[in-house]
Parts: sequence; C-alpha cells; structure tokens
Amino acid sequence: MASEIRPTRKVRILDVGSGPGILTLRLAKQNPTASLVGIDYSPTQVRAAERLRIRQQVKSCVFRRGDAVNLPFENNVFDIALSVGSIKHWPDAVRGLQEIRRVLGSDGLAFIAEADRDASEEGFTRFARQFTAWYVWDRFMRWYLRSAVFGQSYTCQDAESLARLSGFDQVEVEKIKQWPFFFMKQIKSS
Ligand SMILES: C[S@@+](CC[C@H](N)C(=O)[O-])C[C@H]1O[C@@H](n2cnc3c(N)ncnc32)[C@H](O)[C@@H]1O
Repeated sequence: MASEIRPTRKVRILDVGSGPGILTLRLAKQNPTASLVGIDYSPTQVRAAERLRIRQQVKSCVFRRGDAVNLPFENNVFDIALSVGSIKHWPDAVRGLQEIRRVLGSDGLAFIAEADRDASEEGFTRFARQFTAWYVWDRFMRWYLRSAVFGQSYTCQDAESLARLSGFDQVEVEKIKQWPFFFMKQIKSS
C-alpha cells in the first residue's frame, strides 16, 4: 500500500488505527513534504508509535489517541486517509468511514486494506505459515486466524457496501494478489 501512495505536492495524510506506526512512518519518510497524523484507540500503540517516531527521527508525523468512529478533527482537513487492518475492529464501520469522509477535503482519497473474509485457501495458507513456529500447532494457528481474525472481517462485497452506505460514490475494491487481503480505494467527490 505504501508504494501506491506517492503524492506530488504537500499533502495532509491521516492513518486511522496506525498501531505501532510502521506504515505511517514509512509514508512520512517517502514523502518528506507531507504532514501525517496517526491515530489509534489504544494508548499503548500510540506510545509505541511515538517511541519509534523519535528513534527514526521523523518530524513530519504525529501520533495521538483517537477513535475511528469519532475522529478528533474538523471537517475537510486531510487530502488522504488510510487504514490498514483496523476497520474490522471498529464498533461501527459505516460510522468510521463516514468520519473519514467528513475529515477529507473534496477529491480526497481514502485507502483501506483489510483481511478478506473470503480469502482463498491458498492465500490464507501462505499468510498463516508466517505465524507458525515449532511451538505453535499449525492447525490451532489456522483455526485462530480463520475464526478470530478473518472471520471477524469483511468480504470485498461487504466493504464496498459499507463504503457506499457511508456516502462514498466512487469506490473500487480488489483482492490483493498472493495475500488474503483486499484493498479499497474511495474518492470523496466534490
Ligand atoms: C491489526 S492493527 C493494525 C495496525 C497498523 N495499521 C498496521 O498495519 O500495522 C489494528 C489497529 O487498529 C486499532 N483500532 C481498533 N479499533 C479502533 C478504533 N475504533 N479507532 C482507532 N483505532 C482502532 C487497534 O488499536 C490496532 O492498533
């Protein structure tokens, strides 16, 4: 996803559910003239991201606590919003996407990447293998990921409906090749 986002002018980027901040900081380093904000519901994640930001000496990015369904920002203040692996955790995904739409300016772009509940067995197996070690029973790990992670997520069709319900009328969703995730791009029409 980071390689998809290469703005050519100074832009304001919001990462919703930024977790430990790895992607947010990568984007900040790739786009030194952009200003970035990462928000996360968990204060522990916000502290971890802030520690990483200081270690990596990135000045164009801030991390703060915030809830996706009640974003702590005025209307129309970002050019790009992204969220990776977070939307499935939100208590109300439509409300969260409405919030993203609200804080985006006109022609603003939103990018969502999430676990695909309809992932093929092949893609899922490739992904699950990364988490399998000698001390983790492979079948347990597969069951856990399928039921507790992917089972709580959305299909591409679900995601598109959520985006349209939240007011985005330009929505594209595609499965990510090789991996059991989908990628959704939404544009806030002016
Ligand atoms: C699987 S992690 C992904 C973190 C990061 N985006 C990444 O790709 O490394 C999901 C993150 O979403 C955050 N999250 C869950 N519910 C949230 C909410 N309602 N508002 C903001 N963040 C939330 C969690 O605290 C967690 O850090």
